[in-house]
Amino acid sequence: MLYLIGLGLSYKSDITVRGLEAVRNCQRVYLEHYTSILMAASLEELEEYYGKPIILADRELVETGSDDILRDAKKEDVAFLVVGDPFGATTHTDLVLRAKKSGIPVEVVHNASVMNAVGSCGLQLYTFGQTISMVFFTENWRPDSWYDKIMENRKIGLHTLVLLDIKVKEQSIENMARGRLIYEPPRYMSISQCCEQLLEIEETRGTKAYTPATPAVAISRLGSAAQSFKAGTIEELSQYDSGEPLHSLVILGRQCHDLEVEYLLEFADNKEKFRQDVIADQEFFKPAPWTPPVETDD
Ligand SMILES: C[S@@+](CC[C@H](N)C(=O)[O-])C[C@H]1O[C@@H](n2cnc3c(N)ncnc32)[C@H](O)[C@@H]1O
Repeated sequence: MLYLIGLGLSYKSDITVRGLEAVRNCQRVYLEHYTSILMAASLEELEEYYGKPIILADRELVETGSDDILRDAKKEDVAFLVVGDPFGATTHTDLVLRAKKSGIPVEVVHNASVMNAVGSCGLQLYTFGQTISMVFFTENWRPDSWYDKIMENRKIGLHTLVLLDIKVKEQSIENMARGRLIYEPPRYMSISQCCEQLLEIEETRGTKAYTPATPAVAISRLGSAAQSFKAGTIEELSQYDSGEPLHSLVILGRQCHDLEVEYLLEFADNKEKFRQDVIADQEFFKPAPWTPPVETDD
């Protein structure tokens, strides 16, 4: 059996009871180690808690070495641990499809994900649109296809969850080109860098999917003891020091309910200004007021 087990967002004890029982019964345990990190537990602490050695699964192992992970899984139990939920944001459907093709039964143990815990900032999950990923820009690679998705969300009034790039085990281009297995230190995108990239692309595109004055909320270390939120405009948040990772950002949609705004005010430095920023932003993409059809004599 292949078990895909969600670890939740922060603590070693965030794993569910069913997940923990499954891990303890598995012959091999992999921890997916490139799309997220468990903020409040080290590898050694997890190994002690599960009573099992853990194999770190980097992108290369999961994407090109899945035969290794699935080896003997028809006869043995193998656990593939994912921080958050196994199908939250990064879906591990490829691994599941490969397992199924090889006749290996699969069981999923779900857990909390950034995709639902983000609701703790006070915005309604029902009014979120497409989620986007913001990658680190490089000198000659500044992808911006996410811009169109923000535009689509904002046109129909929906909030946009922005997930921020993390690089846990990456080679530099030079090392990759030379085939040297030397890895860069881990990097996590901050809220200010994400907002700067948002502002840069708005300036290039100029079609006002959002503006520097668009309200947003920074969400840091969700689910941990150091969880924090900051509400402000994209421009204000481009100056914000968000501290230790992990971070996400939500760009507000036009359909912002009064209760959502009231909740967010708690996280704003200047509450009255933030309220006015939200009101001003709601003018964007507002449908034209309804006018009755003109009556004709015939
Ligand atoms: C590719 S997603 C993986 C999501 C994970 N599988 C889950 O279900 O939560 C990783 C990104 O989600 C966001 N994220 C994950 N956990 C977070 C947390 N606890 N607080 C803030 N952002 C988080 C960060 O932007 C991070 O780079």
